[in-house]
Amino acid sequence: MQQSRLARQNRHYAEHAGYRIDAHPHHARLYHVTLKAEALEAFFSRFAQFNSQHLEYVPYARFTLAQGLAELVGDGFLAALSAIVHDRDSGGFTVGVEGVTNDPQDYVKFGTAIGHLIGPGNFDAMSGTYYARFVVKDSDASDSYLRQAYRLFTLHTDGTFVDEATDWLLMMKFEERSAAGGESRLLHLDDWEDLAAFAEHPLGAYAFTYTSLPSKNVAQEVLRPTFFKVGDKPCICFIDQFVCPETIAHADWLARLSASLEASPATAAIPLPVGDLIVLNNSFWMHGRAPFERNPELHRELMRQRGRFAQV
Ligand SMILES: [Fe+2]
Repeated sequence: MQQSRLARQNRHYAEHAGYRIDAHPHHARLYHVTLKAEALEAFFSRFAQFNSQHLEYVPYARFTLAQGLAELVGDGFLAALSAIVHDRDSGGFTVGVEGVTNDPQDYVKFGTAIGHLIGPGNFDAMSGTYYARFVVKDSDASDSYLRQAYRLFTLHTDGTFVDEATDWLLMMKFEERSAAGGESRLLHLDDWEDLAAFAEHPLGAYAFTYTSLPSKNVAQEVLRPTFFKVGDKPCICFIDQFVCPETIAHADWLARLSASLEASPATAAIPLPVGDLIVLNNSFWMHGRAPFERNPELHRELMRQRGRFAQV
């Protein structure tokens, strides 16, 4: 297990009738949430009539799922997840369906419920709705690194080129065959040795232009500083593929920033079983993907959702 600079986080440990929160087996900052099978079975049974089209067409139905899961699991489940995601020392957890189902429609419902306990989902222009399912396989003709299996997907945050906030990120594994490698690579900003040097550099506050690629279906340009503060803590917005430097000095700083992130020994590769999902605070966690080992039969499907924090 990768060591973070702090001791293992344990302030959100909990044991209740419907759920348990304890250590994540692969990262000292993350928690793993275990839901009781009876609560999950009751959830999928209660919402058996909901399908993904209904969730796509009727935004309040997404919150209906979240409310239903919170009721069935009970004992402050919503508040517990929200507290973890807002906690600067952690900001992330994994949770899964415990083998109760392997139906992709159920996975969409479960991911939607967990995400909407944290807050409303954002529109995902790549898919045209609030979630995106995407497959990584042996061959790919896309225009970004997202679906290119054998490339390292460098550390980044999501939502850089849209003008709404992207506070949280959820990734759920739907299917995996003939896949070796390809783990999620994660870096908590406070574990990055060079954070202060880059965050306090004059270009750290410079508003770079972000543009996206045709597959993202977003025509706009947005201006975003790389570093910003929430409370008194530095947060980051960065992805190498969409940031547009205007000078050699800009490009040099961005290249050094990415190289420093990639070289950080605090970056951890986290396995994610099929049917499990991870939620991360997108302001102080960076994510990427290790390359897969070459295999013509490679097939992996993930779902992503991104959103804002609920305003309470
Ligand atoms: Fe991403």
